Amino acid sequence: MSRLIILGGGGHGRVVADTARRTGRWEHILFLDDAPDRTRAESDFAVLGTCKDLDQVLRPGDECIVAIGDNGQRRAMLDQVDQRAVPLAVIVDPSASVSADASLGPGTVILPQCAVNIGAELGRGCIVNTGASVDHDCRLGDCIHVAPGAHLGGDVSVGDLSWIGIGASIRHGIRVGARVMIGAGAAVVSNVATGSTVVGVPARPLES
Ligand SMILES: CC(C)(COP(=O)(O)OP(=O)(O)OC[C@H]1O[C@@H](n2cnc3c(N)ncnc32)[C@H](O)[C@@H]1OP(=O)(O)O)[C@@H](O)C(=O)NCCC(=O)NCCS
Repeated sequence: MSRLIILGGGGHGRVVADTARRTGRWEHILFLDDAPDRTRAESDFAVLGTCKDLDQVLRPGDECIVAIGDNGQRRAMLDQVDQRAVPLAVIVDPSASVSADASLGPGTVILPQCAVNIGAELGRGCIVNTGASVDHDCRLGDCIHVAPGAHLGGDVSVGDLSWIGIGASIRHGIRVGARVMIGAGAAVVSNVATGSTVVGVPARPLES
């Protein structure tokens, strides 16, 4: 009996569960969630317990996915799953287009209506959210979130833990460092330094 255990039952977790259900790969899709109010997740899927219950819940053959939108928290939880040597699923919505010559790291999800084109390489635990695109030869590190409707031109690189905000666009060939936040709707036309936040058209550093 194939089972997918989803860690994180918030809005993003429910979208991931819905995508997993559409793939038809798992007979059972189950949540672990730390939030005291789990009613939304429980209305659609069974919640077995909190993330601390992982060891008790796991059965041989289970696969896991970490569905926490925050990049740092997702990486921390992925590390915990890795310590238990549980297979991390890769989930691609049936409506998404992913090139046979793209690579997706363990724990990465590609949500509805996305495109990931030839030669793209995505690391561990990435999220390509609804309607986003990652074009040819892009290289994304680990635990990056490409928010809904964001678009990366060809040959863009993005460092670990960066967040590409909703509706942002990144010109082809741009280098984005690690732990970068690109604001909603930004147009990124020059390289972005590690750790910075940029907003606007064209994107400029957000003064703190
Ligand atoms: C860039 C961002 C991280 C800044 O958040 P923040 O540090 O809390 O900043 P604030 O909301 O306090 O705004 C600070 C200033 O930046 C401006 N600003 C914030 N986000 C902006 C954006 N995306 N584009 C242009 N200006 C922006 C604000 O208007 C404000 O300007 P002011 O000081 O002149 O009033 C955030 O606004 C953002 O765009 N996040 C993306 C979220 C996202 O994509 N979510 C998708 C969920 S799946």
